[in-house]
Amino acid sequence: MLIETPCFIVKEDILNENLENLKQGASLFKKSILSYSVKTNPLPWLIDYFKEHDLYAEVVSDEEYKYVLSKGYEREKIIFNGPIKSRENFLEAVSTDSIVNIDSMREIKWITEMSTRSKVGLRVNVYNEDLTGLIYPESRFGFSYENGDIKRIIDIFNRTNTSIKGLHFHLNKKDRSVQTYEYISNLAIRIINEFGLDLDYIDFGGGFLGGRGYDFSDYTKVIKEQFEKSQINVDEICMIFEPGAALVATSIDFMMKIVDKKIINHNIYLTADGSRIYTDPTITSKRYKYEINTASDDFISQKQIICGFTCMENDRIMEFNGGKRLEENDTILIKDIGAYTMSLSPIFILGPPRVYLLNKNSEYKLVRKNKELTGFF
Ligand SMILES: Cc1ncc(COP(=O)(O)O)c(C=O)c1O
Repeated sequence: MLIETPCFIVKEDILNENLENLKQGASLFKKSILSYSVKTNPLPWLIDYFKEHDLYAEVVSDEEYKYVLSKGYEREKIIFNGPIKSRENFLEAVSTDSIVNIDSMREIKWITEMSTRSKVGLRVNVYNEDLTGLIYPESRFGFSYENGDIKRIIDIFNRTNTSIKGLHFHLNKKDRSVQTYEYISNLAIRIINEFGLDLDYIDFGGGFLGGRGYDFSDYTKVIKEQFEKSQINVDEICMIFEPGAALVATSIDFMMKIVDKKIINHNIYLTADGSRIYTDPTITSKRYKYEINTASDDFISQKQIICGFTCMENDRIMEFNGGKRLEENDTILIKDIGAYTMSLSPIFILGPPRVYLLNKNSEYKLVRKNKELTGFF
């Protein structure tokens, strides 16, 4: 099949490997759940793939909740997180046995007003001055154990028809280190012991490294060790993990083609049919892994700057100081950009590009057509 650029390419063999790695790691526990973080990349083909492979779906908005229901997810296999659930969908999810983790004061009000007995999870704020590499030292999510909010909520629940079924954590840490989960495990143990909680689950959120060279059991071993040191019987609690990046980051590449070339002063500007809005939508100056496909074997010393199709001056995707002379129709494959890049790409000048699946038999299949602006507005 002829690949048309610009396009994303989902590599099924890498996805299978990443999933197998996570399944192996999670199997250290007697009871565990892997739940795909839908926001990381909500491509319909991926949602179907994870459903077929028996993963739960972790959603954080009414729209994601309805989306996975429309994809045939059983309600018990949906984890509904985040502070922006509507009252209607929140109550529906609680009363139809989805796993619901509370992360706002208004949900506490809604749940305690329910006339029937209900069980929910509680997102716990993770705060530790010694944890380095945090995007913000103080997370805005979850309820604080340190300031007594967890205790106050447990007291409110004890006076009403509500009980705590699980504790939920998630920390965005740049290094995605194992130590984060050691800290979270000990915080969970402290809360369980202090308040005598009888939990169905502990949800560790996402934030894991994945792809070749990483072993998910490095995380699960550390978690298990912490619980084994405590009096808590880890076999009785279901350990939940909500990976996004660890599953999809390394399983998706982006391909673009050079469509034009011009020289300004001494620099060569090569315009591609791709854009930084597809490879680095948050403009964080990513360094890419890439492969160039060119027939040229002519080496030059001039600077070559690969630019995107948009009219933004900073739509400069990569630059090379010297190297093979690049020409029109050469292609560049940017690797491992499956997590968040597709979902954060704006609709700007062009609609979203095509997505191909490269299946395990090395055949390409179109799984999302490019959508033109006329289809959107
Ligand atoms: C609550 C929660 N769970 C899971 C994830 C997925 O994280 P990652 O893609 O780093 O695995 C996120 C990401 O922000 C999250 O907020």
